[in-house]
Amino acid sequence: MKKHAGIKIGLAGLGTVGQGVWKHLRSRKSELEARMGTTFSLERAAVRSLEKKRSIRISKKALTDDAMSIANDPQVDVLCELMGGTGHAYEVTKAALNNGKTVVTANKALLCHHGDKLFRLAKKKDAHIYFEASVAGGIPIIKALREGLVVNHFPLIYGILNGTCNYILTRMEREGKAFDTILDDARKLGYVEADESLDLDGWDAAHKTVIISYLAHGKWIPLKKMPVEGIRDVTLEDIQWAQRLGFKIKLLSLILRDFKKGHLFASVQPALVPKDMVLANVDGVFNAISVTGDIVGESVYIGRGAGQDATASAVISDVVDAGTAIAHGIMPEEPKNRDDLKLAKPEEVYRSFYIRLAVKDKPGVLAEVASVLADEGVSIGTVLQRPNGKKGSANLVLTTHLCSEAAMQAAVRKLNRRKALLNKPFLLRIADFAQRLG
Ligand code: NAP
Ligand code: HSE
Repeated sequence: MKKHAGIKIGLAGLGTVGQGVWKHLRSRKSELEARMGTTFSLERAAVRSLEKKRSIRISKKALTDDAMSIANDPQVDVLCELMGGTGHAYEVTKAALNNGKTVVTANKALLCHHGDKLFRLAKKKDAHIYFEASVAGGIPIIKALREGLVVNHFPLIYGILNGTCNYILTRMEREGKAFDTILDDARKLGYVEADESLDLDGWDAAHKTVIISYLAHGKWIPLKKMPVEGIRDVTLEDIQWAQRLGFKIKLLSLILRDFKKGHLFASVQPALVPKDMVLANVDGVFNAISVTGDIVGESVYIGRGAGQDATASAVISDVVDAGTAIAHGIMPEEPKNRDDLKLAKPEEVYRSFYIRLAVKDKPGVLAEVASVLADEGVSIGTVLQRPNGKKGSANLVLTTHLCSEAAMQAAVRKLNRRKALLNKPFLLRIADFAQRLG
């Protein structure tokens, strides 16, 4: 083994992920050292409460409640930021980078909100950031994009990046139970984030989508420029309609790059996924990502998107890469920033749609709906109708062929003004990607 003074590792955060990292770095120490070509030591870990009981063995003197002291410790080479949040975690990460340290982080919110500044700071200070665990837990998607697929350009990436939503949608579909019932179970199992909106309103998936967009395209997409919707409005009825039509509903992250028009589009929205697509069959808390590279074609990655061991596995792969790089003096290049890359407006993107309408059940209503869609150039694919239990009304479900979001939104505005409509149309996008790539 090549001799090096040894890599000194500090952990800011020793909760679910931190304890997993501590435990597995220790249990596989000699194997990992052989891999890195140097030795390493776990120096210290920062926590909020020094009194809290931990599931790992750690000496009192290795614990501190001052994460900044680790970021400023000249002995520490690699700081693992495993605290979460965008406040103190940001300050600690900045301090570590200012000190030229390598930071390994699992914090998707931090990178989504401050990634641009942090990567610029890292470059300036000749410091480095590794972030495998920030997207899709144990799936090595960052490494795949960064290394395995390096020669490719990526016209299409889509994925299931939130395990909690996937768990809820899967159980609604399998058991025919309502959203609220399954959400309660997900809470009891500890799947739902303390801030439930992160999961249920699509923000957690959006954070991860922003990180993948940066890695694949060099562009940090501001969250406010991205359509983000969660799964709260998806009903059991939608799931059943989708099944009849040959789809499953998944919360889907989508990143489209149009190389001809020179623009990029990203969104997180519930979508109808054809049952024969691999992602339609990724159920429960699992995550999956499909990456289409212009040279390699499509590859699909499936695995555990969260949990102590899966996430620790990803953090440790970064620690080993960081240690190897430091020991051998070969540091990685970050993706080139493409600030000039334009974002497509959502209305410029073509999709197929699923529309659920509650309508008056009387002659001419279907023709009226069809004529509004036709006026906007929206072509209907299928039509289904069934009574909705209320006298004189029915539920109508239509799917469309590819049309622009702008045309669809114009049609929805017009439909909203029609007396035959009993509530606002509910729209879902269809993941018709085979059509898109020809
Ligand atoms: P967690 O269980 O809540 O652990 C957070 C840790 O940070 C705790 O040890 C806490 O101390 C410590 N901490 C918080 N604020 C601190 C402060 N101001 N100063 C010092 N220590 C502080 O969270 P987690 O689930 O391990 O998640 C950590 C990170 O990994 C987050 O960014 C999360 O998004 C990301 N992540 C988690 C998962 C997962 O499955 N859990 C998956 C992927 C990514 P105490 O222990 O004393 O409270
Ligand atoms: N809340 C996230 C999820 C945890 O459900 O996927 C992992 O990032």
